[in-house]
Amino acid sequence: MAFGGESFLELIQGWDGRSVVVNYDQPTGTWIFVAIHDDTLGPAAGGCRMMVYPRPEEGLRDALRLARGMTYKWAAIELPFGGGKSVLAVPRPLEGEERRGLLHRFGALLERLRGAYGTGEDLGTTPDDMAEIASVTSHVVQMHGVQDGPVDPGPFTALGVFEGMKAALEHVYGSDELTGRTVLVQGVGDVGRPLARMVAAAGGEVVLADVDADRAFALSVEIGGRVVKAEEVYGYPCDVYAPCAVGAILNPETIPLLECSVVAGSANNQLESDADAERLMQRGILYAPDFVINAGGAMAFGLMHLGEREPETLERRVAGIGDMLRRIFTDAAERGESPLRAAQRKVERVLARAATPSPSVDGVGGG
Ligand code: PHE
Repeated sequence: MAFGGESFLELIQGWDGRSVVVNYDQPTGTWIFVAIHDDTLGPAAGGCRMMVYPRPEEGLRDALRLARGMTYKWAAIELPFGGGKSVLAVPRPLEGEERRGLLHRFGALLERLRGAYGTGEDLGTTPDDMAEIASVTSHVVQMHGVQDGPVDPGPFTALGVFEGMKAALEHVYGSDELTGRTVLVQGVGDVGRPLARMVAAAGGEVVLADVDADRAFALSVEIGGRVVKAEEVYGYPCDVYAPCAVGAILNPETIPLLECSVVAGSANNQLESDADAERLMQRGILYAPDFVINAGGAMAFGLMHLGEREPETLERRVAGIGDMLRRIFTDAAERGESPLRAAQRKVERVLARAATPSPSVDGVGGG
Protein backbone atom coordinates (compact mmCIF):
# COMPACT_ATOMS: atom_id res chain seq x y z
CA MET A 1 0.00 0.00 0.00
CA ALA A 2 1.43 3.34 -1.00
CA PHE A 3 2.08 5.53 1.99
CA GLY A 4 3.71 8.86 1.39
CA GLY A 5 5.08 9.20 4.91
CA GLU A 6 3.20 12.47 5.48
CA SER A 7 3.11 14.11 8.89
CA PHE A 8 -0.05 14.70 10.92
CA LEU A 9 -0.05 18.29 9.72
CA GLU A 10 0.34 17.38 6.06
CA LEU A 11 -2.36 14.75 6.27
CA ILE A 12 -4.84 17.18 7.81
CA GLN A 13 -3.87 19.94 5.38
CA GLY A 14 -4.58 17.65 2.44
CA TRP A 15 -8.00 16.62 3.75
CA ASP A 16 -11.34 18.08 2.71
CA GLY A 17 -13.22 17.34 5.96
CA ARG A 18 -14.43 19.43 8.88
CA SER A 19 -12.58 18.52 12.07
CA VAL A 20 -10.17 16.05 13.55
CA VAL A 21 -9.88 15.30 17.24
CA VAL A 22 -6.58 13.80 18.31
CA ASN A 23 -5.98 12.28 21.73
CA TYR A 24 -3.06 10.34 23.09
CA ASP A 25 -4.15 7.73 25.62
CA GLN A 26 -1.24 7.65 28.08
CA PRO A 27 -2.10 4.43 29.98
CA THR A 28 -2.11 2.27 26.83
CA GLY A 29 0.01 4.34 24.44
CA THR A 30 -2.87 4.52 21.96
CA TRP A 31 -3.43 7.34 19.49
CA ILE A 32 -7.13 8.15 19.23
CA PHE A 33 -8.35 9.89 16.08
CA VAL A 34 -11.91 11.07 15.56
CA ALA A 35 -12.45 12.42 12.05
CA ILE A 36 -15.60 14.37 11.25
CA HIS A 37 -15.72 14.76 7.49
CA ASP A 38 -19.11 16.30 6.82
CA ASP A 39 -22.29 17.07 8.73
CA THR A 40 -24.56 18.35 5.96
CA LEU A 41 -27.03 15.51 6.42
CA GLY A 42 -26.78 15.21 10.21
CA PRO A 43 -24.39 14.44 13.06
CA ALA A 44 -21.37 12.39 11.99
CA ALA A 45 -21.58 8.65 12.52
CA GLY A 46 -19.36 5.75 11.58
CA GLY A 47 -17.43 2.85 12.94
CA CYS A 48 -14.41 2.67 15.22
CA ARG A 49 -11.40 0.82 13.88
CA MET A 50 -8.89 -0.65 16.31
CA MET A 51 -5.62 -1.66 14.74
CA VAL A 52 -1.87 -1.78 15.18
CA TYR A 53 -0.38 0.55 12.56
CA PRO A 54 3.33 0.72 11.76
CA ARG A 55 3.12 4.46 12.52
CA PRO A 56 0.33 6.52 14.13
CA GLU A 57 0.25 8.71 11.00
CA GLU A 58 -1.16 5.75 9.10
CA GLY A 59 -3.96 5.49 11.64
CA LEU A 60 -4.79 9.14 11.10
CA ARG A 61 -4.67 8.65 7.34
CA ASP A 62 -7.09 5.72 7.67
CA ALA A 63 -9.46 7.77 9.86
CA LEU A 64 -9.51 10.65 7.37
CA ARG A 65 -10.16 8.42 4.37
CA LEU A 66 -12.73 6.30 6.16
CA ALA A 67 -14.62 9.36 7.42
CA ARG A 68 -14.92 10.66 3.88
CA GLY A 69 -16.21 7.24 2.84
CA MET A 70 -18.93 7.49 5.49
CA THR A 71 -20.11 10.84 4.09
CA TYR A 72 -20.58 9.14 0.73
CA LYS A 73 -22.17 6.08 2.30
CA TRP A 74 -24.83 7.95 4.27
CA ALA A 75 -25.62 10.17 1.29
CA ALA A 76 -25.83 7.21 -1.10
CA ILE A 77 -28.41 5.51 1.13
CA GLU A 78 -30.03 8.85 2.01
CA LEU A 79 -29.94 8.57 5.79
CA PRO A 80 -29.61 11.70 7.96
CA PHE A 81 -26.05 11.22 9.21
CA GLY A 82 -22.76 12.88 8.41
CA GLY A 83 -19.46 11.23 7.63
CA GLY A 84 -17.27 10.34 10.58
CA LYS A 85 -14.95 7.61 11.70
CA SER A 86 -12.61 6.91 14.57
CA VAL A 87 -9.37 5.01 14.79
CA LEU A 88 -7.79 3.62 17.92
CA ALA A 89 -4.21 3.12 16.80
CA VAL A 90 -3.09 0.70 19.51
CA PRO A 91 0.62 -0.09 20.04
CA ARG A 92 -0.17 -3.83 20.32
CA PRO A 93 -3.37 -5.92 20.56
CA LEU A 94 -5.11 -4.98 23.82
CA GLU A 95 -7.15 -7.38 25.93
CA GLY A 96 -9.00 -7.48 29.24
CA GLU A 97 -8.73 -4.55 31.64
CA GLU A 98 -6.40 -2.59 29.39
CA ARG A 99 -8.81 -2.80 26.47
CA ARG A 100 -11.77 -1.93 28.69
CA GLY A 101 -9.96 1.07 30.10
CA LEU A 102 -9.18 2.41 26.64
CA LEU A 103 -12.78 1.91 25.50
CA HIS A 104 -14.10 3.76 28.56
CA ARG A 105 -11.76 6.69 27.98
CA PHE A 106 -12.75 6.72 24.31
CA GLY A 107 -16.41 6.76 25.41
CA ALA A 108 -15.70 9.67 27.74
CA LEU A 109 -14.18 11.54 24.80
CA LEU A 110 -17.35 10.96 22.75
CA GLU A 111 -19.34 12.25 25.69
CA ARG A 112 -17.27 15.46 25.68
CA LEU A 113 -17.93 15.79 21.94
CA ARG A 114 -21.65 15.81 22.82
CA GLY A 115 -22.83 13.74 19.90
CA ALA A 116 -20.92 15.49 17.12
CA TYR A 117 -19.74 11.95 16.31
CA GLY A 118 -21.48 8.65 17.08
CA THR A 119 -19.49 5.44 16.92
CA GLY A 120 -20.13 1.85 15.89
CA GLU A 121 -18.37 -1.38 15.05
CA ASP A 122 -15.63 -1.62 12.45
CA LEU A 123 -12.51 -3.67 11.73
CA GLY A 124 -10.92 -4.71 15.03
CA THR A 125 -13.85 -3.83 17.29
CA THR A 126 -16.66 -6.13 18.41
CA PRO A 127 -20.27 -5.81 19.55
CA ASP A 128 -18.97 -6.32 23.11
CA ASP A 129 -16.59 -3.40 22.68
CA MET A 130 -19.55 -1.25 21.66
CA ALA A 131 -21.44 -2.32 24.78
CA GLU A 132 -18.39 -1.30 26.80
CA ILE A 133 -18.27 2.15 25.19
CA ALA A 134 -22.04 2.49 25.60
CA SER A 135 -21.64 2.05 29.37
CA VAL A 136 -20.15 5.54 29.54
CA THR A 137 -21.77 7.39 26.61
CA SER A 138 -25.00 7.33 24.62
CA HIS A 139 -23.16 8.27 21.42
CA VAL A 140 -23.00 4.74 20.07
CA VAL A 141 -25.06 3.79 17.04
CA GLN A 142 -26.38 0.56 18.44
CA MET A 143 -28.94 -2.01 17.68
CA HIS A 144 -30.81 -2.79 20.84
CA GLY A 145 -34.27 -4.27 20.94
CA VAL A 146 -34.05 -6.33 17.76
CA GLN A 147 -32.20 -9.07 19.57
CA ASP A 148 -30.92 -9.61 23.11
CA GLY A 149 -27.49 -8.18 23.72
CA PRO A 150 -25.15 -6.38 21.31
CA VAL A 151 -25.82 -6.98 17.61
CA ASP A 152 -23.19 -7.51 14.94
CA PRO A 153 -23.53 -5.34 11.79
CA GLY A 154 -21.46 -7.84 9.73
CA PRO A 155 -24.34 -10.02 8.46
CA PHE A 156 -26.29 -6.91 7.38
CA THR A 157 -23.28 -5.67 5.45
CA ALA A 158 -22.91 -9.14 3.91
CA LEU A 159 -26.56 -9.16 2.82
CA GLY A 160 -26.13 -5.83 1.03
CA VAL A 161 -22.98 -7.08 -0.69
CA PHE A 162 -24.72 -10.30 -1.73
CA GLU A 163 -27.64 -8.40 -3.30
CA GLY A 164 -25.22 -5.95 -4.92
CA MET A 165 -23.20 -8.84 -6.33
CA LYS A 166 -26.33 -10.26 -7.92
CA ALA A 167 -27.16 -6.87 -9.44
CA ALA A 168 -23.66 -6.75 -10.93
CA LEU A 169 -23.92 -10.30 -12.31
CA GLU A 170 -27.24 -9.41 -13.90
CA HIS A 171 -25.73 -6.33 -15.50
CA VAL A 172 -22.79 -8.27 -16.92
CA TYR A 173 -24.31 -11.66 -17.78
CA GLY A 174 -28.03 -10.89 -17.99
CA SER A 175 -28.70 -13.27 -15.07
CA ASP A 176 -28.13 -12.92 -11.34
CA GLU A 177 -27.85 -16.68 -10.92
CA LEU A 178 -24.90 -17.76 -8.73
CA THR A 179 -24.88 -21.38 -9.83
CA GLY A 180 -21.93 -21.84 -12.14
CA ARG A 181 -20.26 -18.64 -10.91
CA THR A 182 -17.03 -18.51 -8.98
CA VAL A 183 -16.73 -15.91 -6.24
CA LEU A 184 -13.38 -15.19 -4.64
CA VAL A 185 -13.84 -13.83 -1.12
CA GLN A 186 -10.73 -12.06 0.13
CA GLY A 187 -10.87 -11.85 3.92
CA VAL A 188 -13.22 -14.16 5.82
CA GLY A 189 -13.86 -11.97 8.85
CA ASP A 190 -17.01 -10.42 10.15
CA VAL A 191 -18.44 -9.74 6.68
CA GLY A 192 -16.53 -12.11 4.38
CA ARG A 193 -17.59 -15.16 6.37
CA PRO A 194 -21.39 -14.60 6.22
CA LEU A 195 -21.02 -13.45 2.60
CA ALA A 196 -19.20 -16.66 1.61
CA ARG A 197 -21.93 -18.68 3.35
CA MET A 198 -24.64 -16.86 1.36
CA VAL A 199 -22.82 -17.40 -1.94
CA ALA A 200 -22.34 -21.10 -1.21
CA ALA A 201 -25.98 -21.50 -0.12
CA ALA A 202 -27.08 -19.89 -3.41
CA GLY A 203 -25.09 -22.47 -5.38
CA GLY A 204 -22.03 -20.38 -6.15
CA GLU A 205 -18.54 -21.77 -6.02
CA VAL A 206 -16.46 -20.01 -3.40
CA VAL A 207 -12.74 -19.46 -3.30
CA LEU A 208 -11.48 -18.24 0.06
CA ALA A 209 -8.41 -16.27 0.99
CA ASP A 210 -7.29 -14.76 4.26
CA VAL A 211 -4.01 -13.53 5.71
CA ASP A 212 -4.87 -16.05 8.44
CA ALA A 213 -4.83 -19.20 6.27
CA ASP A 214 -6.26 -21.35 9.07
CA ARG A 215 -9.33 -19.15 9.20
CA ALA A 216 -9.94 -19.58 5.45
CA PHE A 217 -9.36 -23.32 5.73
CA ALA A 218 -11.81 -23.70 8.63
CA LEU A 219 -14.54 -21.96 6.64
CA SER A 220 -13.83 -24.07 3.55
CA VAL A 221 -14.35 -27.18 5.66
CA GLU A 222 -17.77 -25.82 6.64
CA ILE A 223 -19.07 -24.57 3.29
CA GLY A 224 -16.80 -26.23 0.72
CA GLY A 225 -14.71 -24.40 -1.84
CA ARG A 226 -11.03 -23.91 -2.43
CA VAL A 227 -8.55 -21.89 -0.41
CA VAL A 228 -5.94 -19.74 -2.14
CA LYS A 229 -2.93 -18.05 -0.62
CA ALA A 230 -3.42 -14.40 0.25
CA GLU A 231 -0.74 -13.38 -2.25
CA GLU A 232 -2.37 -15.34 -5.11
CA VAL A 233 -5.69 -13.51 -4.96
CA TYR A 234 -5.22 -10.91 -7.69
CA GLY A 235 -4.38 -13.17 -10.61
CA TYR A 236 -6.83 -15.88 -9.63
CA PRO A 237 -9.49 -16.57 -12.32
CA CYS A 238 -13.04 -16.03 -11.05
CA ASP A 239 -16.29 -14.31 -12.05
CA VAL A 240 -16.55 -12.12 -8.98
CA TYR A 241 -13.75 -10.80 -6.83
CA ALA A 242 -15.12 -9.78 -3.42
CA PRO A 243 -12.57 -7.81 -1.41
CA CYS A 244 -13.70 -7.99 2.22
CA ALA A 245 -10.57 -6.97 4.08
CA VAL A 246 -8.42 -3.85 4.02
CA GLY A 247 -8.59 -0.98 1.51
CA ALA A 248 -6.55 0.29 -1.45
CA ILE A 249 -6.36 -3.21 -2.96
CA LEU A 250 -7.46 -1.88 -6.36
CA ASN A 251 -4.49 0.04 -7.69
CA PRO A 252 -2.22 0.31 -10.75
CA GLU A 253 -0.28 -2.79 -9.60
CA THR A 254 -3.23 -5.13 -8.94
CA ILE A 255 -5.77 -4.06 -11.61
CA PRO A 256 -3.75 -5.40 -14.58
CA LEU A 257 -3.56 -8.79 -12.81
CA LEU A 258 -7.30 -9.25 -12.20
CA GLU A 259 -9.01 -12.18 -13.95
CA CYS A 260 -12.62 -11.39 -12.99
CA SER A 261 -15.66 -9.70 -14.56
CA VAL A 262 -17.02 -8.09 -11.41
CA VAL A 263 -15.56 -6.53 -8.27
CA ALA A 264 -18.19 -6.61 -5.54
CA GLY A 265 -17.00 -6.68 -1.95
CA SER A 266 -17.36 -5.08 1.45
CA ALA A 267 -13.98 -3.48 2.09
CA ASN A 268 -13.95 0.28 2.61
CA ASN A 269 -11.83 2.45 0.29
CA GLN A 270 -11.13 -0.33 -2.19
CA LEU A 271 -9.68 2.04 -4.77
CA GLU A 272 -6.29 3.53 -4.05
CA SER A 273 -7.48 6.58 -6.02
CA ASP A 274 -10.53 7.49 -8.11
CA ALA A 275 -8.51 6.95 -11.29
CA ASP A 276 -8.56 3.22 -10.50
CA ALA A 277 -12.30 3.20 -11.34
CA GLU A 278 -11.37 4.21 -14.92
CA ARG A 279 -8.65 1.56 -14.99
CA LEU A 280 -11.20 -1.11 -14.06
CA MET A 281 -13.62 0.16 -16.70
CA GLN A 282 -10.89 0.00 -19.35
CA ARG A 283 -10.26 -3.60 -18.40
CA GLY A 284 -13.98 -4.35 -18.83
CA ILE A 285 -14.45 -5.12 -15.13
CA LEU A 286 -17.67 -3.92 -13.49
CA TYR A 287 -16.88 -2.28 -10.16
CA ALA A 288 -19.61 -1.91 -7.55
CA PRO A 289 -18.71 1.31 -5.68
CA ASP A 290 -17.67 0.29 -2.17
CA PHE A 291 -19.59 2.98 -0.32
CA VAL A 292 -22.84 1.75 -1.88
CA ILE A 293 -22.42 -2.01 -1.85
CA ASN A 294 -21.03 -2.12 1.70
CA ALA A 295 -23.59 0.24 3.22
CA GLY A 296 -25.78 -2.54 4.68
CA GLY A 297 -24.36 -2.45 8.21
CA ALA A 298 -24.50 1.32 8.42
CA MET A 299 -28.00 1.27 6.96
CA ALA A 300 -29.37 -1.28 9.41
CA PHE A 301 -27.78 0.48 12.38
CA GLY A 302 -28.74 3.94 11.15
CA LEU A 303 -32.37 2.89 10.69
CA MET A 304 -32.36 1.22 14.09
CA HIS A 305 -30.99 4.39 15.63
CA LEU A 306 -33.85 6.29 13.99
CA GLY A 307 -36.36 3.95 15.64
CA GLU A 308 -36.87 1.08 13.20
CA ARG A 309 -37.27 -2.16 15.16
CA GLU A 310 -38.68 -4.64 12.62
CA PRO A 311 -36.03 -7.17 11.52
CA GLU A 312 -37.95 -7.79 8.26
CA THR A 313 -38.00 -4.09 7.43
CA LEU A 314 -34.28 -3.79 8.14
CA GLU A 315 -33.51 -6.75 5.90
CA ARG A 316 -35.76 -5.51 3.12
CA ARG A 317 -34.14 -2.08 3.19
CA VAL A 318 -30.63 -3.55 3.16
CA ALA A 319 -31.54 -5.88 0.29
CA GLY A 320 -32.64 -2.74 -1.58
CA ILE A 321 -28.92 -1.99 -2.07
CA GLY A 322 -29.25 -4.37 -5.05
CA ASP A 323 -31.73 -2.06 -6.79
CA MET A 324 -29.68 0.98 -5.88
CA LEU A 325 -26.72 -0.55 -7.69
CA ARG A 326 -28.86 -1.61 -10.68
CA ARG A 327 -29.73 2.06 -11.16
CA ILE A 328 -26.10 3.13 -10.78
CA PHE A 329 -24.87 0.53 -13.31
CA THR A 330 -27.55 1.54 -15.83
CA ASP A 331 -26.93 5.22 -15.27
CA ALA A 332 -23.18 4.74 -15.73
CA ALA A 333 -23.62 2.63 -18.88
CA GLU A 334 -25.92 5.22 -20.43
CA ARG A 335 -23.44 8.01 -19.83
CA GLY A 336 -20.38 5.94 -20.68
CA GLU A 337 -18.89 6.69 -17.28
CA SER A 338 -17.66 4.51 -14.42
CA PRO A 339 -20.11 3.28 -11.77
CA LEU A 340 -17.98 5.21 -9.26
CA ARG A 341 -18.71 8.45 -11.10
CA ALA A 342 -22.44 7.63 -11.30
CA ALA A 343 -22.53 6.92 -7.55
CA GLN A 344 -20.58 10.08 -6.79
CA ARG A 345 -23.04 12.13 -8.80
CA LYS A 346 -25.88 10.72 -6.74
CA VAL A 347 -24.02 11.66 -3.55
CA GLU A 348 -23.37 15.18 -4.86
CA ARG A 349 -27.09 15.58 -5.66
CA VAL A 350 -28.17 14.43 -2.21
CA LEU A 351 -25.66 16.69 -0.43
CA ALA A 352 -26.46 19.70 -2.62
CA ARG A 353 -30.18 19.29 -2.00
CA ALA A 354 -29.62 19.16 1.76
CA ALA A 355 -27.25 22.13 1.70
CA THR A 356 -29.68 24.40 -0.16
CA PRO A 357 -31.55 26.40 2.48
CA SER A 358 -35.30 26.11 2.00
CA PRO A 359 -36.61 29.53 0.92
CA SER A 360 -37.81 31.57 3.88
CA VAL A 361 -41.11 33.41 3.92
CA ASP A 362 -39.66 36.86 3.31
CA GLY A 363 -37.26 35.52 0.73
CA VAL A 364 -34.19 36.63 2.67
CA GLY A 365 -33.08 33.29 4.08
CA GLY A 366 -29.73 32.58 5.67
CA GLY A 367 -28.77 33.89 9.09
N1 PHE B 1 -18.37 0.39 10.24
C1 PHE B 1 -19.47 0.43 9.33
C2 PHE B 1 -19.01 0.77 7.91
O1 PHE B 1 -17.85 0.99 7.63
C3 PHE B 1 -20.46 1.47 9.67
C4 PHE B 1 -21.24 1.40 10.93
C5 PHE B 1 -21.80 2.56 11.34
C6 PHE B 1 -21.43 0.26 11.65
C7 PHE B 1 -22.54 2.61 12.48
C8 PHE B 1 -22.19 0.29 12.80
C9 PHE B 1 -22.73 1.45 13.20
O2 PHE B 1 -19.82 0.84 7.03
